[in-house]
Amino acid sequence: MLNKISTEEERASVGNLSKSVLSVHNLTKDFGGLRAVDDVSFEVGKGEFVGLIGPNGCGKTTTFNCISGLLRATKGNVEIFNVITNDLPPDQVQKLGLTRTFQHTRLWRDMTSIENLLIPPRNQFGTNPFTGLASFFSPHEEQLRVEKAYNTLTELEIKHMAHNLTSDLSGGQSKLVDIGRALMGDPLLLLLDEPVAGVAGPLAEKIFNNLRKIVDDKGISILVIEHNMDFILRQGVDRIIVMDQGRVLMQGTPDEVKDSQEVIEAYLGGTN
Ligand SMILES: Nc1ncnc2c1ncn2[C@@H]1O[C@H](COP(=O)(O)OP(=O)(O)O)[C@@H](O)[C@H]1O
Ligand SMILES: [Mg+2]
Repeated sequence: MLNKISTEEERASVGNLSKSVLSVHNLTKDFGGLRAVDDVSFEVGKGEFVGLIGPNGCGKTTTFNCISGLLRATKGNVEIFNVITNDLPPDQVQKLGLTRTFQHTRLWRDMTSIENLLIPPRNQFGTNPFTGLASFFSPHEEQLRVEKAYNTLTELEIKHMAHNLTSDLSGGQSKLVDIGRALMGDPLLLLLDEPVAGVAGPLAEKIFNNLRKIVDDKGISILVIEHNMDFILRQGVDRIIVMDQGRVLMQGTPDEVKDSQEVIEAYLGGTN
């Protein structure tokens, strides 16, 4: 009983967590004397498509690294599906339903797109290696996986590239295969680090359209890092979190961000 009350008190102190799939509370990360992330707090709700934006070096990737368990926070808490994950390694965080991509696309370049999607993720075998291996080698399971991989490439509109080596793909197509790999694990929360960096305008917009569709169709949540403010404002995200020099400058809908004097002055360089 006492435990329950204290849990409710804890919940009241940080807001309504049941609607949040990710809550970051006062996250701080120091690298020696450099404070890369400084007292950052934000939430991502179920079925929300949220942009994390800010200039190069402002702490976006470091925030992702702390959330996904690659780095230990200096201070603060990360809560994923109501589990405090501060001390969990990346594979345990992934088991909660979080998948992330990296700023530099990590694909097997001497394999085709479909083969890249079919490589099992690290936690493929589950907690019991024997039952996991049995299902991995079952022909029926394998057939379902292949169908799922083709369906994922279809969703991302790159099925025609299924049998191309990924070394032959454009930068944008490689990003889409990378997103496809992330989707194969059925994430509930997907963190994408600059999925359109270096991608030509029309394909970048198409990637964001596909992400919006995935959020709406599957009800998953996506937090996406982007560094181009003009671009993100036009991509149909639900909310934008603006970072600057390690801190959250503001968060709100694209319209609120566009109209924010703080953002105009600090991020867009003012009007003069
Ligand atoms: N592993 C690290 N060791 C030391 N400094 C780092 C490390 N990772 C990032 N930094 C520094 O932290 C700051 C934030 O970097 P980062 O999170 O990569 O920014 P962003 O993704 O917004 O471009 C930068 O000054 C960067 O040089
Ligand atoms: Mg980065």
